[in-house]
Amino acid sequence: MWKPPQRIKFHAATGRIPTRAEAAASLLFSPLKAGPLALEERTWVPAMVPWRSDEDGVVTEDVLEWYERFARGRPGAIVVEATGIRDIASGPLLRISHDRYIDGLRELAQTIHRASDGHTRALIQIIDFLSIRRRPEPAKFFQRFLQIQPRHREFLGAPEASDEEVRERLAALPEDQWSLALDARELEALHYGARERVTDTHLPHIRELPLVLPGLFAAAAARAQAAGFDGVELHYAHAYTMASFLSATNTRNDGYGGARDARVRLPLEVFGAVRARVGPGYAVGCRFLAEECIEGGNQVADAVSFGVAFARAGMDFLSTSRGGKFDDAKQPGVGAAAYPYTGRSGYECMPQYLSDEAGPFGRNIAPTAAIRAAIRAAGFATPVVCTGGVHNFEMAEAMLARGDCDMVGTARQSLADPDWSRKTALGLGDQVRLCEYTNYCEGLDQKHKQVTCQLWDREALDEPGIRLSADGKRRLVAPPWSPPEA
Ligand SMILES: Cc1cc2nc3c(=O)[nH]c(=O)nc-3n(C[C@H](O)[C@H](O)[C@H](O)COP(=O)(O)O)c2cc1C
Ligand code: SF4
Repeated sequence: MWKPPQRIKFHAATGRIPTRAEAAASLLFSPLKAGPLALEERTWVPAMVPWRSDEDGVVTEDVLEWYERFARGRPGAIVVEATGIRDIASGPLLRISHDRYIDGLRELAQTIHRASDGHTRALIQIIDFLSIRRRPEPAKFFQRFLQIQPRHREFLGAPEASDEEVRERLAALPEDQWSLALDARELEALHYGARERVTDTHLPHIRELPLVLPGLFAAAAARAQAAGFDGVELHYAHAYTMASFLSATNTRNDGYGGARDARVRLPLEVFGAVRARVGPGYAVGCRFLAEECIEGGNQVADAVSFGVAFARAGMDFLSTSRGGKFDDAKQPGVGAAAYPYTGRSGYECMPQYLSDEAGPFGRNIAPTAAIRAAIRAAGFATPVVCTGGVHNFEMAEAMLARGDCDMVGTARQSLADPDWSRKTALGLGDQVRLCEYTNYCEGLDQKHKQVTCQLWDREALDEPGIRLSADGKRRLVAPPWSPPEA
């Protein structure tokens, strides 16, 4: 992953540890209504893909165990990882793309409710993404993937050459000639792997996204509702389709790109279709970017305008993230796919302990506070979740007290210690295992390996009945913790 050149080291700290009575009187441990969603406290575990499903995208025992472990910590809400709405093979990513998934998802929602003794609300994040290919071997790219165009023949000065000959001659060129022979998208396909964009409107399936996506999202949301989830989070963040519609880089000229109003049109239409399908009594919100953190990308002012539009449309909650784009991703190795968390925008999404002067803790607070303030100024009470580097009570409570947000998201801190908020609520904050923000977990995610935390994954491997990673070296969930008898 990209790191800021300053490489200043930051360490997480426990902050001021509240007594049990102080915690009970705090904002963090006070209830909140997000539309129909009644949270017992304002702690929120945002979506994290742990690579626990299988090639069919079903809820496996490993998936159940992963969420059960988070639920034992009794946060206000858990958002189940990005779950695909299209019925297509997408590796071990969860899917909600057909009714056959409902039974497994029902078991997942029940597991979260049961393991938290009913204290935690279960949401699920639903996602659409466009196709991205692995970086090819150059020989394979020229033989199979490149579509031969008249300009390739022109470049070679061989107007009569067959496609076969053109392929062979291009492949045989010295590497520095490829940048002259190929256009920008072909070069990207060669060096990074071909990636579709929402602006590829010459492709019928991309042109028709505004016709297709509202129905797909609505059907997925209806399945989440049927499976017993307490709500859905529409994934409008990071490198995926809906965020790409919102992006300032979206230049579609069919009324769904260009100006902000046009860029937010499909996200609002998707929400409208979802709301129409699940009804007013079901919690629907979205996750979107407070800043894209790429050249020419959305700034806070864009996100402020979108946040107000989402609130006006009647979303029940809004959750912010930042960065995580393909645009500045590092070049993958041959045979691997680009990963949207490897460039500067990736750092902004999951900042690690080597940082710049601003540090890795709370980089999204100011932008999120600006979005929330604009929503309030427009007369809406829509609750907002802020996430990014939060790891202790003092920090979370200050965010709530200042009115930066209404719920506090902790992804990696909850992975490091799924009981951190429960321990804190019980006045046992000194027992919290603090995330070190090394991004070992993110490194596993990048390799599509089962995500674990380095602080506990080699601990007590001989515990009876525990499940281990595919390589047999790591436990898959944090060791159990039980609160002392009251
Ligand atoms: C392993 C891993 C997987 C993630 N998967 C998702 C995801 O599916 N959807 C999403 O919106 N964010 C995802 N994120 C981003 C987190 O939700 C969160 O925004 C980010 O880690 C920053 O918060 P933190 O500092 O509390 O970890 C993931 C993060 C990690 C570490
Ligand atoms: S591996 Fe554990 S300690 Fe390291 S960043 Fe991830 S959650 Fe934090």
